[in-house]
Amino acid sequence: MTASETRPLTATRQFPPGFLWGAATAAYQIEGAAAEGGRTPSIWDTFSHTPGKVFGGHTGDVAVDHYHRFRDDVRLMKDLGLSAYRFSVSWSRVQPTGRGPAVQRGLDFYRELVDELLAAGISPALTLYHWDLPQELEDAGGWPHRTTAERFADYAGIVADALGDRVERWTTLNEPWCTAFLGYGSGVHAPGRTEPVAALRAAHHLNLAHGLGAQALRASLPARAEVGVALNLHQIRPLTEAPEDREAARRIDAVGNRVWLGPMLDGAYPEDLAADTARLTDWAFVKAGDTAAAHQPLDFVGINYYTPTVVSAAREGDTGLSDGGHGGGAHSPWPGADEVSFHQPPGERTAMGWSVDATGLYDLLMRMAHEYPDLPLYITENGAAYEDVVEADGTVHDPDRIAYVHGHLEAVHRAVESGADVRGYFLWSLLDNFEWAYGYDKRFGAVHVDYRTLARTPKSSALWYARVARTGELPA
Ligand code: NOJ
Repeated sequence: MTASETRPLTATRQFPPGFLWGAATAAYQIEGAAAEGGRTPSIWDTFSHTPGKVFGGHTGDVAVDHYHRFRDDVRLMKDLGLSAYRFSVSWSRVQPTGRGPAVQRGLDFYRELVDELLAAGISPALTLYHWDLPQELEDAGGWPHRTTAERFADYAGIVADALGDRVERWTTLNEPWCTAFLGYGSGVHAPGRTEPVAALRAAHHLNLAHGLGAQALRASLPARAEVGVALNLHQIRPLTEAPEDREAARRIDAVGNRVWLGPMLDGAYPEDLAADTARLTDWAFVKAGDTAAAHQPLDFVGINYYTPTVVSAAREGDTGLSDGGHGGGAHSPWPGADEVSFHQPPGERTAMGWSVDATGLYDLLMRMAHEYPDLPLYITENGAAYEDVVEADGTVHDPDRIAYVHGHLEAVHRAVESGADVRGYFLWSLLDNFEWAYGYDKRFGAVHVDYRTLARTPKSSALWYARVARTGELPA
């Protein structure tokens, strides 16, 4: 089915009852307190402290100081009428070396956060891994090594034992594509390695970590808990319908999407991926039983969507590079896809340079709904960075962000109307925060943060979103 063949919109654009209205964050992007409570460095501490890696030499040492201000931040969420909050746990805060016993103070921080959320009537959605691998595990080989997946399962069990009685939704990994291909391929993310084979090995061990982690969660969590994963699935569009451009789209779909969907949801890697990458690796690091282990029953898949990906066969003069939207770099994040060119569609863009196109979200949701009809979906991230201006009276008016979110919620509503089982939407992000290689230069928050005083001020978009969250209805 194509976008034009859908059923008509209902007049009110009311979302289904029980639809979750959330906002999302991640530990390294907001917590700060990098050396408190027994926390040791993660790969992002090391990377951000390495000159030249992050815009302006910014680090997450203080970030937005959520570690000390979480009670105020939960109050803010309550004022915004959120029904859910997605956050991640810093592995090096609860298990500083990435192995061995947990640090109670680390677990206590998250228990206090969760209790505060529950008291405010906000359902916690916990992500175990949002990119901050304990540095000691990277020193031992990192994601390209199998043992990292095994360590991840231990860590998952620790967090589940500590918080399983009070957290309803669990996500193993956030955007493993970024971990594998930006971290070990293009090197624009920590740990900054540029080794295509290591990137593919990392992808496999992330799939395995997801499966082993999901098993560890199930072993500890009550039956009512939901377990899933958050993927930045690419909505890939060939530049033209020419066979060579469609072939480029197929290639990027394999290494961008099916590299995760295959093992996690179908129990096997796609054959075309193996063929596309054959000159790099024979995939001998995939051991018997690995794809079965990665293939665990899931209660949901979370989709993080920002912009579509337009590709063609390599055009002359093209560098063949694309950072997938994160931070440039001289190396490709797409192993085995050197013959592909990436294109920026004309039209409106956000401050990240990402084109604004909500039809990509609709198409992605409908693809998932058709290919995996029984699998509930959440939008675990969607949002936009813009150059916000603080007015003399301290307010921030961000009509572009409102328009972006409005358009994407319209697409979600249309997908729900067309039969996609979408259960909730998490705005990225609650607060302005550390935007990885861009440091504090890009603001995604619905709530403005003054980085000198750390004062929080809801932008117009926060007030707008609060109304949608309270009514469950999208205004015209
Ligand atoms: C995806 C990531 O999960 C999140 O950490 C990041 O800040 C946003 N996209 C925006 O780039």
